[in-house]
Amino acid sequence: ALKIATIGGGSSYTPELIEGYIKRKDELPIKEIWLVDIEAGKEKLETVGAMAKRMVKAAGLDWEVHLTLDRRAALKDADFVSTQFRVGLLDARIKDERIPLSHGVLGQETNGAGGMFKAFRTIPVILGIIEDMKELCPDAWLVNFTNPAGMVTEAAIKHGGWKKTAGLCNVPIGHRKQASEKLGIPEEDLFFKFAGINHFHWHRVWDKEGKERTQELIDLIYGPQEEQESHLKNIWDAPYHYEQIKDLGLLPCGYHRYYYIEDEMLKHSIEEFEKGETRAQVVKETEARLFELYKDPNLDYKPKELEQRGGTHYSDAACELIASIYNDKRTDMVVSTENNGTITDLPYDCVVEVSGPVTAHGHEPYNWGAFPPAARGIIQVMKGMEETVIRAAINGDYGAALHAFTINPLVPGGAMAKTLLDELLIAHKDHLPNF
Ligand code: NAD
Ligand code: G6P
Ligand code: MN
Repeated sequence: ALKIATIGGGSSYTPELIEGYIKRKDELPIKEIWLVDIEAGKEKLETVGAMAKRMVKAAGLDWEVHLTLDRRAALKDADFVSTQFRVGLLDARIKDERIPLSHGVLGQETNGAGGMFKAFRTIPVILGIIEDMKELCPDAWLVNFTNPAGMVTEAAIKHGGWKKTAGLCNVPIGHRKQASEKLGIPEEDLFFKFAGINHFHWHRVWDKEGKERTQELIDLIYGPQEEQESHLKNIWDAPYHYEQIKDLGLLPCGYHRYYYIEDEMLKHSIEEFEKGETRAQVVKETEARLFELYKDPNLDYKPKELEQRGGTHYSDAACELIASIYNDKRTDMVVSTENNGTITDLPYDCVVEVSGPVTAHGHEPYNWGAFPPAARGIIQVMKGMEETVIRAAINGDYGAALHAFTINPLVPGGAMAKTLLDELLIAHKDHLPNF
């Protein structure tokens, strides 16, 4: 029988997760689900936790759902530990987005200055969780969903030493569905290969006859006559430049917009900033509405309104990964995992986000090889930036933090790097014990 602990259980995404477990009830002999939060999230935990209990009951299952602020009690003898926490909650994200934008610089949840600060706040916490896991559940799998998922997963594997860590994101699932719709071919009849790092990966697609369909998809999705959709609720659908994507010969992910067409994304973000409608601010209102719904004692299923959040299909990643490990299903998934030579352009010991079957012993990535030069340069810069962010987060090293800010492609110039870093360090000082 399985014990699953979820850290950040008060998240509005919890019903998504519970729904995913219920769907897989025949594959997962769950006995206990422990939802853990902290004092600041207690009310959310109680509301969404009560909803989780109703969902389990409505499905006719006898799973125990425990709500707790005691992380150690939740971790004790857990088989799987999933994480979906946000240090500082949405108010911290509002600062991550608004402070850079107030200087005319892109502010985003997981990219640029804001994304680096989310890493600074989160990495010490994930390493603390791993310290507890070493003592309380030494054989458990850590399923990390907490953003910035790539850097948090790299910190867990490389610095926490927790090899049994899988980092997840819903973006690749959206791209799979998009390709299937555009080609009019069922997803299971297509073969996908994703490679890169979290929120910065590209992919290729083949059909059952063995024919590569990538260029055709570039035309169908990014062609001059197409109306481009990012399929992500949280990313504005600015069109990529077709000729550039055509030249790339790989399908980009939604987040490449912040790099390939940074100026257009920035212009739009500044407009949102001026209206007081940055994504974090909008999400805060969505979240409040969701929790009003969750309070309804008759609601015992995941409401449609949750689709307004960017994380739809989250459970298709998290719950399927757990089912695939537990049953050695070998489901083909995209996971943030140790590179080990999968991408030859990046260090062996770094974490990359790549395709491959999920086995009982974890993810076995397909070999990708090298990127074309135009993609190789930027991914090497991005990975070097991530490694520097992680080093800064662990050591509270100001020089490393400034260096990461200086080389991050979304921070323009050394003076701006220092201005933003200093202002964000003050704004977030309560959540930065290492600095
Ligand atoms: P949220 O603001 O609702 O936070 C979730 C919970 O985490 C809150 O209830 C909060 O109290 C709790 N929390 C904060 N610090 C904690 C700690 N130290 N220990 C335990 N709990 C703690 O966040 P959300 O919008 O539900 O998102 C949750 C996380 O999942 C974020 O990091 C977000 O970026 C990430 N996310 C990832 C993906 C992905 O693709 N990987 C998709 C969606 C969301
Ligand atoms: C996508 C990304 C997540 C990100 C989310 C933001 O799902 O994969 O990593 O956290 O969007 O959604 P939100 O609704 O919070 O803006
Ligand atoms: Mn993601």
